Amino acid sequence: MRQGEFVKSDGFPPQYDEVMFPPRGAPGSVRQARTSIPWWNPRYWRKRVWAGIGVVLVIIIIIAVAVGVTQSKKNRYPDYSAITYSLSETYGGENFFDKFNYFTGYDPAQGFVHYVPAPEAKQRNLTYATPSTAVVKVDTAVGPDSEPNASTGRFSVRLESKTTYNRGLFLFDVKHTPYACGAWPALWLTDPSHWPDNGEIDIMESVNQGTGGNQMTLHSTGGCSMGGVKRKMAGEAADGNCDHAANKNAGCGVSGGDKTFGTAVNGAGGSVMAVEWRDAGIRMWQFARGAVPADVAAKKPDPSTWPEAAADFPSTECDIGSHFRNNSIIVNIDLCGDLVYGSWKKSGCPSNCTDLVANQPDLYKTAYWEFGSFEVYQPA
Ligand SMILES: *[C@@H]1O[C@H](CO)[C@@H](O)[C@H](O)[C@H]1NC(C)=O
Ligand SMILES: *[C@@H]1O[C@H](CO)[C@@H](O)[C@H](O)[C@H]1NC(C)=O
Ligand SMILES: *[C@@H]1O[C@H](CO)[C@@H](O)[C@H](O)[C@H]1NC(C)=O
Ligand SMILES: *[C@@H]1O[C@H](CO)[C@@H](O)[C@H](O)[C@H]1NC(C)=O
Repeated sequence: MRQGEFVKSDGFPPQYDEVMFPPRGAPGSVRQARTSIPWWNPRYWRKRVWAGIGVVLVIIIIIAVAVGVTQSKKNRYPDYSAITYSLSETYGGENFFDKFNYFTGYDPAQGFVHYVPAPEAKQRNLTYATPSTAVVKVDTAVGPDSEPNASTGRFSVRLESKTTYNRGLFLFDVKHTPYACGAWPALWLTDPSHWPDNGEIDIMESVNQGTGGNQMTLHSTGGCSMGGVKRKMAGEAADGNCDHAANKNAGCGVSGGDKTFGTAVNGAGGSVMAVEWRDAGIRMWQFARGAVPADVAAKKPDPSTWPEAAADFPSTECDIGSHFRNNSIIVNIDLCGDLVYGSWKKSGCPSNCTDLVANQPDLYKTAYWEFGSFEVYQPA
């Protein structure tokens, strides 16, 4: 720094009010400038001040845009406008069970059951159909002294529809839901030979006495989430990530409430579950026996006229069409297994699950499904 330059002796550049910076057309001394330049007048602001103002403005704009994008993301909602449906398939009457394969392998959910084939299910009366009703039960005949006994698991049934589906409107008339200590019943959709690639749609599911209510859940591969998106539903959301690899495969669940499974709903005559599966999303309704929409009874169901859904899984952050494909209707009653072991301590049930299932056949007399019919509709 050479002497004689216009710098302060401490080497720092001069401050604003020390610089000779006279108003245009009014030359003056430093002294004059100090006393006559009003700091609030933009005419006298230096480049640095303007740059600061520019930076602040840019930050404000970025924040505003981010808030706007977040808000509009939160408000995004798919178009669930009316689709005209026509009946494509009915599961009902004495032939109800003919439309299902019977899964007989080792239980994929680590349950304490032996799923039996169709002839044995019929012979043990675990499947039973009349013109108006279809019953699916677990065995209650085998006791500790039977041969064989239930020391390696109790006989039960897992049905998988022969028809597979891609979208549609499904109506399940459920007259009785299974409940008992150790029971894990479910009514669901999946492609068992391509799980989780083709997804899983759980429509009715509960454990033990069913007092926790009905759980409606999607399980998928990665990239399917309900977290933070706008939903229109009466049920209460649990985890938002549908990815089976997250949260120990908890899926993205919605609780129907405490009167939606077990004695509470059975005592009221059961309910009708409706599932609309379309590219816009998957929605589920649970209609109390006395509140089934007239268009359902008339076989002209129109979800766009129904009350708010119990569960809404919009396509906002989940490409429904690519995550859910080729699903069968599955009906089963598992005993013990992952979900039961995880909830045993707070279930109020005595002893342990396998002890009850092996040795207390009478406990399982309430562990049965009773259905009216299933109807599947497709866009007309
Ligand atoms: C089979 O089960 C049905 C439904 O629970 C019942 O009504 C019927 O009496 C049973 N049949 C026999 C032979 O036990
Ligand atoms: C159950 O059956 C197995 C095989 O027949 C037998 O070894 C076992 O002792 C039986 N359990 C009871 C409690 O009788
Ligand atoms: C559809 O699902 C059925 C039953 O799981 C399976 O046998 C079939 O291979 C699947 N089809 C396709 C195209 O994935
Ligand atoms: C379950 O309870 C039975 C009977 O009390 C007992 O013998 C058995 O060891 C228990 N099993 C486990 C896994 O706790």
